[in-house]
Amino acid sequence: MAKRILTWLKPTSDQIHIGNYFGAVLPLLKLIAQDSQNEWFFMIANMHTLTTIHDGSVMKKNTLDFCRLYITLMRYHGLSEQQVVIFNQASIPAHAQLSWILSCVTHMGFMERMHVYKDAVAKGKANEIGVGTFCYPILMAGDIVLYDADIVPVGQDQKQHVEFCRDIAERFNKLYGETFKTPEVYIDPTVAVVPGIDGRKMSKSYNNFLGLLDDEKTLRKKVKQITTASLPVEASKNPDECTVYLLTKLFTTPEEDKALRDRYLAGGMGYGEAKEYLTEKLLAFTGDIQKIYHDLTDEEIVAIIDRGTQKAYDIATKKIEEINQKVGFVL
Ligand code: ADP
Ligand code: TRP
Repeated sequence: MAKRILTWLKPTSDQIHIGNYFGAVLPLLKLIAQDSQNEWFFMIANMHTLTTIHDGSVMKKNTLDFCRLYITLMRYHGLSEQQVVIFNQASIPAHAQLSWILSCVTHMGFMERMHVYKDAVAKGKANEIGVGTFCYPILMAGDIVLYDADIVPVGQDQKQHVEFCRDIAERFNKLYGETFKTPEVYIDPTVAVVPGIDGRKMSKSYNNFLGLLDDEKTLRKKVKQITTASLPVEASKNPDECTVYLLTKLFTTPEEDKALRDRYLAGGMGYGEAKEYLTEKLLAFTGDIQKIYHDLTDEEIVAIIDRGTQKAYDIATKKIEEINQKVGFVL
């Protein structure tokens, strides 16, 4: 039986960095490429993005740019956007409706255990987070059960929320009879953390990232800034402790990797040369991506989203009607 897989893109900025790409997007695209029988739903999680972005024009631009980039990456990997249903969460009222219904069967104690809230408490900022930020695991649970999703591929950071979704689905089923599927969480065991140019985890919030849409000048400058040890050219160097190597490895073939490791260990290669090699690899990759990206128009993106949204709308609307019946809203 074909399974339904729900995943998401969250347009919190106008592009993604290579940490997001290798840590989240590429593993997903590999799964889609191996899979010819399951149904893939890609939700544009703009209702979730609203917890942090409060400027309508920024929200709109980020959403279009983000979708354009995801479609670009699919095409770059020989996939087609036709293989997935990309849809606009905010165009489907059932998400907000179900979120309220699920809020009414969720205990505060449950929500206080969610790590977003616990982190805020630990930082003494519990009173400063938005109510939306506190409640978003409920909205997210609804996103999943509304489509009867079987599998939700996530990073470690979202595992707790899918487990919460399973709990709340079971609770609802106990109260109202079998309505929701309990989704399985899938975490790719091979995903590693990509370092940023300062050696910490690459992250938008540390501003230490290499962006897929950064121009050549910016990328050259950022690579030059990568922190390295201060060893002379002739010294033997440990590749596994070098951020330049760890980043280069993402782009090399096994043969190129072996040759590069040998050069690090043998000595005779300075960090300047290692950075030049990384820059070349990076520019070849981003150049190919950016070419596809800039050829896509806003009209094409909107048409793809509209098509997916219509499909998702029909499924979600049917499901919310069933839920409304069960809770006694339909007279
Ligand atoms: P950021 O830290 O830049 O704000 P997000 O939290 O938006 O990134 O991450 C989006 C996705 O990308 C998550 O699934 C996360 O696991 C993955 N990701 C983010 N940064 C990295 C990284 N440095 N290495 C590997 N994966 C990452
Ligand atoms: N909460 C997720 C995040 O912050 C995004 C998300 C929203 C999501 N709805 C979802 C993820 C449904 C998986 C399934 O990244």
